[in-house]
Amino acid sequence: MNIKSLIEDADAIIFDLDGVLVNTAVFHFAAWQRLAETFGFEFSESDNEHLKGISRMDSLDIILTWANVQATPKERLAFAEQKNIWYLEFIEKMTEDQLLPGSIELLNYLRQSGKKIALGSASKNAKMILNKTGINEYFDAIIDGNSVTNSKPDPEVFLLGARQLNILPNKCLVFEDAQAGIQAAINAGMKVIAVDRAQLLTSYDARVEGLTEIQYS
Ligand code: BG6
Ligand code: MG
Repeated sequence: MNIKSLIEDADAIIFDLDGVLVNTAVFHFAAWQRLAETFGFEFSESDNEHLKGISRMDSLDIILTWANVQATPKERLAFAEQKNIWYLEFIEKMTEDQLLPGSIELLNYLRQSGKKIALGSASKNAKMILNKTGINEYFDAIIDGNSVTNSKPDPEVFLLGARQLNILPNKCLVFEDAQAGIQAAINAGMKVIAVDRAQLLTSYDARVEGLTEIQYS
């Protein structure tokens, strides 16, 4: 199915944030890499692919396993807090320049087409990022890492979005850049468009390399 028909068929669009609307995946990578270095573990970009869409604590646990580091619950919290401090150093300087190309055009098109718009992100920093980049007013519902107990690929974040918009899951279309997020959308019974520059993802309904690829006329 082509992208325009997928959008036309949907009553609501649910966006992942990091790597779909904003260019923050690079900041997550840099902050995790800095933490991994303190464990003497070389954290590569391909390692980072596995962490996309995964919550902060779950990501930390994966890195600790890879690095073969044992940590107490208190140390785990301190490591996650340190990673977030480094991450926020980037986020604090964010402006609309970090919006990925095509984001505003798509959000405007959806609004003009009368679609409901929700955010479905694993990030606890999502609201700050929406404010910094000036796109918060586009969203009819914001579901983030503070609103859910189960991480993607659990469908909770997207089902909660659909419920808050009062739209049935099968009338929702998700934009995702992570395999865990694609699986979460499928588990929610939603259609999903992969935003996938590196052609690493599978099981989507359609794929774009970036949002500028979408044709509106
Ligand atoms: C997801 C990112 O959107 O949010 C992950 O893809 C990140 O890389 C997760 O770990 C949690 O983000 P935060 O901002 O709460 O640490
Ligand atoms: Mg993402």
